[in-house]
Amino acid sequence: MGYKVAVVGATGNVGREMLNILAERAFPADEVVALASRRSQGVEVSYGDKILKVKTLDHYDFSDIDICLMSAGGAVSKEWSPKIAASGAVVIDNSSCWRMDPDVPLVVPEVNAEAIAGFRKKGIIANPNCSTAQLVVALKPLHDRAKIKRVVVATYQSVSGAGKEAMDELFAQTKAVFTVEEIEAKKFPKRIAFNLIPHIDAFMDDGFTKEEWKMVVETKKILDPKIKVVATCVRVPVFIGHSEAVNIEFEQPLSADEAREALRNAPGCLVIDKREAGGYVTPYECVGEDATYISRVREDPTVDSGLVLWCVSDNLRKGAALNAVQIAESLINRKLISAKKKAA
Ligand SMILES: NC(=O)c1ccc[n+]([C@@H]2O[C@H](COP(=O)([O-])OP(=O)(O)OC[C@H]3O[C@@H](n4cnc5c(N)ncnc54)[C@H](OP(=O)(O)O)[C@@H]3O)[C@@H](O)[C@H]2O)c1
Repeated sequence: MGYKVAVVGATGNVGREMLNILAERAFPADEVVALASRRSQGVEVSYGDKILKVKTLDHYDFSDIDICLMSAGGAVSKEWSPKIAASGAVVIDNSSCWRMDPDVPLVVPEVNAEAIAGFRKKGIIANPNCSTAQLVVALKPLHDRAKIKRVVVATYQSVSGAGKEAMDELFAQTKAVFTVEEIEAKKFPKRIAFNLIPHIDAFMDDGFTKEEWKMVVETKKILDPKIKVVATCVRVPVFIGHSEAVNIEFEQPLSADEAREALRNAPGCLVIDKREAGGYVTPYECVGEDATYISRVREDPTVDSGLVLWCVSDNLRKGAALNAVQIAESLINRKLISAKKKAA
């Protein structure tokens, strides 16, 4: 007997991908329920070769749900995750709402799967921000080999990271450029078509943005609080796939060859690094893929021991939906939950 799984935010970018991934990986679910806001009641979404009719979150009874994958934003999660957890379901949340709560594990299974066991305090497990997830997958094997001191990262983040309306905005603006119509910017503070914007999420008092702050504190919570991180987060006119240029400084020596070898053997990483035109991965190629791709690994001559690399991943998959489903699989594989029906 399998599990009953609810996907909250099932009409969104991440929710739809969650349904795809549950089906692709043959997740042991007896039933999957798709939930969203009242606006979407009755909307049809695909789950493998099945069609699910979306139900509204407001009146849904979670008492027989085992696992709830939440991806409906911070405000919805703040209100609903504790209520859903109180009904006995484990909530795996994609919003930023619970990530830094000391009683909520923040998990990337390739990096800190053992932290999952801490879910019992609140019944909630948090998924990191999309740009943090791929970064820590790439950093973990290098940290294990040579102890990372400091990371300087610049991101090139796709518009899908800002939700489905943001994707529509890039499409509409791009079309408007060709049809010489007025360009409207609603979701982004400036035009995104044929442009890029060095600003994601709100500005903080120190001049960094919240997106940049998230990369710092989440990397510390998942990987190692001693690692120093500084980030510049940039939105680029790419539909899906986040890219990162990463400078890493180590305590011990690590050559580019040793780093490539460590990355090749690490879970979730794929190294594509030929020093020739096209011998690297771009965001367009990572769409629909599960891996974090690493290219352009080279030694940094400006520090005693340092590397520079390029890292690309599908933000809707490893950055959100895939990571959430992997957490659910880890809960089952580690026998941390059992299906309510089975237990009854
Ligand atoms: N996109 C990424 O790369 C990424 C990565 C990591 C984390 N996340 C996080 O994942 C969450 C979802 O992101 P997304 O990109 O999928 O956004 P999205 O495409 O805008 O979808 C939002 C989803 O939330 C639902 N929703 C909104 N208000 C609701 C309410 N009051 N009650 C129930 N459902 C409600 C929407 O339903 P309706 O269609 O009915 O409005 C829709 O299904 C966000 O917290 C985001 O920060 C996203």
